[in-house]
Amino acid sequence: MAVDPPVLAVKGLTKSFGDLDVIDGLDLTVRQGELMAIVGPSGCGKTTLLRLLAGLETPTAGSVKVRGEPVTGSGPDRVLIFQEGTVFPWATVEENVSFGMEARGDVDPERVAEAVRTCGLDGFQDNYPRTLSGGMERRVALARAMVAEPDMLLMDEPFSSLDAQTSRILQNTLMRLWKETGTTVVLVTHDVEVALRLASRVMVVSSRPLRERDVHDLTGKDGEREVVRRKVLKVLEAEVGERLY
Ligand SMILES: Nc1ncnc2c1ncn2[C@@H]1O[C@H](COP(=O)(O)OP(=O)(O)O)[C@@H](O)[C@H]1O
Ligand SMILES: [Mg+2]
Repeated sequence: MAVDPPVLAVKGLTKSFGDLDVIDGLDLTVRQGELMAIVGPSGCGKTTLLRLLAGLETPTAGSVKVRGEPVTGSGPDRVLIFQEGTVFPWATVEENVSFGMEARGDVDPERVAEAVRTCGLDGFQDNYPRTLSGGMERRVALARAMVAEPDMLLMDEPFSSLDAQTSRILQNTLMRLWKETGTTVVLVTHDVEVALRLASRVMVVSSRPLRERDVHDLTGKDGEREVVRRKVLKVLEAEVGERLY
C-alpha cells in the first residue's frame, strides 16, 4: 500500500531579504494530525518561516510541499493565524467567524454555531471586537480558522501578550479543537513552556539565520516532558547566550 505523502514537507528551505539571511537550509516533515511546535529566539525568522509555509513568501532556495504538491501561493487548505489580531473591527463575532465561508458563498450556520461554542464565545455572537478582551479576540480568530476546516493550521505566537490565565484558557481551547478535529497544527513560539505543554513534537531552531538545532518527539511521553524541557532550555540558552529560567 502506498504511504500518503506527509501533510508538509520542507526541504533545504532558504530565505534571504537582500543581504539578510533569515532561513538557512531548513528540513521539516509534518505528518497528519501532529501538533508541531517550533521554538526559537525572537527575531530568528519564525514569522518568515510561517509566511513561507502559508505561501505568502517565496523561498530563495529549497521547497515547501503540501501533500506532495509544491506551494505556490496561499490556499484554503492552510490557514495562518497571525501574531497580531486579525479580527475585523467592523464586523460582529458571528460575522467574523463566518467570513471565510461567506467569501466562498457557502455559509453553514450549524458549523459557525459549533465553532462559536467550542471556542467559548456563546452569547457574544453579536458583539463587536472593541467590546471583547484580548483573549476573546484570539478565540474569534481561532473560530474563524476552524470553520474553514483547514488541512493545516499555522499559528504565529498565538499566546503572546496575554496574561497567564487567559493564555492557559486559550491553550486549553486549542487542545480541545486539535483533539476534536484532528487538524495538523504548526505553531511557532519563543515560549518553551507553551511548546512543551502542547506539542506532540518540538523543534528548537537557532538565532537568525534560522536552522534546526534539536527535535524531540513527545508523543506518549508525558513523563519525559521535564527532561526534554531541560534539554530544550539548554539549547536555547546556548543560542541566546543567557540563562532563560
Ligand atoms: N519583508 C522583509 N524584508 C526585510 N527583512 C525582513 C522582512 N521580513 C522579515 N525580515 C527580517 O527577518 C528577520 C526575522 O524576522 P521574523 O521572521 O519576523 O522573526 P521572528 O518571527 O522569529 O521574530 C528580522 O531581522 C526581520 O527584520
Ligand atoms: Mg514573529
